Amino acid sequence: MKVAIMGYGTIGSGVAEVLRINQDQIQRKVGEPIELKYVLDRNEIAGEDHDKLVLDFNIIAEDPEVGLVVETMGGIHPAYEFVKASLEKGKHVVTSNKALVDAMGSKLISIAKEHNCNFFFEASVGGGIPVIRTIYHNYAGEKLTEITGILNGTTNYILTKMRDSGASFEDTLHEAQKLGYAERDPSADIDGFDTSRKTAILLSMASGNRCRHEDIYTEGIRNVSAIDVEYAKFLGMNIRLLGSVQVVEDKYFAYVAPIMITKNDPLYPVDGVFNGIRIVGNCLGTTMLYGMGAGKLPTASAVVSDMIAAVRHQHEFQGIGWSEKMIDIEPMGSNAFNYLVRIEGTPDDVANEVKDLFLNDTTAFHPIVLDGRTDEFAVMTDVMFESDFKENMKEFEEKTGRRVFHFLRAELGKD
Ligand SMILES: NC(=O)c1ccc[n+]([C@@H]2O[C@H](COP(=O)([O-])OP(=O)(O)OC[C@H]3O[C@@H](n4cnc5c(N)ncnc54)[C@H](OP(=O)(O)O)[C@@H]3O)[C@@H](O)[C@H]2O)c1
Repeated sequence: MKVAIMGYGTIGSGVAEVLRINQDQIQRKVGEPIELKYVLDRNEIAGEDHDKLVLDFNIIAEDPEVGLVVETMGGIHPAYEFVKASLEKGKHVVTSNKALVDAMGSKLISIAKEHNCNFFFEASVGGGIPVIRTIYHNYAGEKLTEITGILNGTTNYILTKMRDSGASFEDTLHEAQKLGYAERDPSADIDGFDTSRKTAILLSMASGNRCRHEDIYTEGIRNVSAIDVEYAKFLGMNIRLLGSVQVVEDKYFAYVAPIMITKNDPLYPVDGVFNGIRIVGNCLGTTMLYGMGAGKLPTASAVVSDMIAAVRHQHEFQGIGWSEKMIDIEPMGSNAFNYLVRIEGTPDDVANEVKDLFLNDTTAFHPIVLDGRTDEFAVMTDVMFESDFKENMKEFEEKTGRRVFHFLRAELGKD
């Protein structure tokens, strides 16, 4: 099979490298060589593949020898047009581009079906972690009720460093940028949009239908402070940016937000740039996938495994993905959490209001006071719907005249 790689940056050049490093094994597994014929990029490229460089997509589209196209350019346009044209010519397409899969996935899957070829996108979520195929093949017989993941290595690195060093978010972000773990413009990562796109893809996989990442409540880690982290450490918990999907009968819940998790949660030990994805099925119970969620060779490895699948199934459409039917996502207010509420002053004269508005009748009031702090204390609420919690928080401020400095959602009951 002759292939073209569109976009020879980190991942595209990684794909060429994996094809070279594992050439013998790949040929043995697929029964024929996978041979790189073209590389499309707008930049000059160095190294072995420079003689394969083309600037015009039509050369790839019009070459009947090319049966498989890898899209690793990123962005929606012109990636969409190039992928669509490739599929319409009956060429299989493999992509690592979450923005494209999130925005146009269902459309591209149906175009692939029409032309009896394949559109695979394993690397678009979880980098080297095989989450898409696991959901599609291995859990085909399961009703998936929840998929929750640490899906962004940059934010997980920052939160891990903040915990270990006690440093502020800003200082830790600057250090991460210096070390190359965060982009110069870090917004897509730290404001949660990257996680939100991946969460939308996971919800589409779990539901079998399309959703919009814009409909998923998305909060990044900018407002996580060193004091928040101190409270989490005091309680033996970790703060993680989670992308979460829940399916309850015919209702769909999803959010992206920093959440405090306990040691019982399988995601608790996922530190640094690693990703983890917890999957819950009605018969399966809980499982977790763990590994490198980004990076040149791990992500390229997932692309290459899709390429192998495309060669193995070159004569048949495999419907990995979802339909074009759009689903509604329940509002954030209908998700339930515990909340760590940081309240101005000392706990002395607000115990009744705390009990009344944040705790059940049966739960004792145990204020959390960090060493040496007299200006604030915190309380961990019982499980409440977010809409109720926000109303009660407002009522608390009105009744007591005390400010709530900040709150953090927590999951005390996951294991
Ligand atoms: N990096 C990761 O760890 C990782 C992990 C998982 C998924 N992904 C996804 O994989 C995709 C590629 O990421 P990457 O990190 O490899 O990006 P990258 O290093 O920026 O590589 C993309 C390459 O494609 C070129 N390109 C972009 N648009 C083009 C166009 N219209 N025509 C010709 N060339 C074009 C870029 O040129 P310019 O530099 O001039 O723009 C660049 O050389 C993205 O969708 C990303 O989200 C990346």
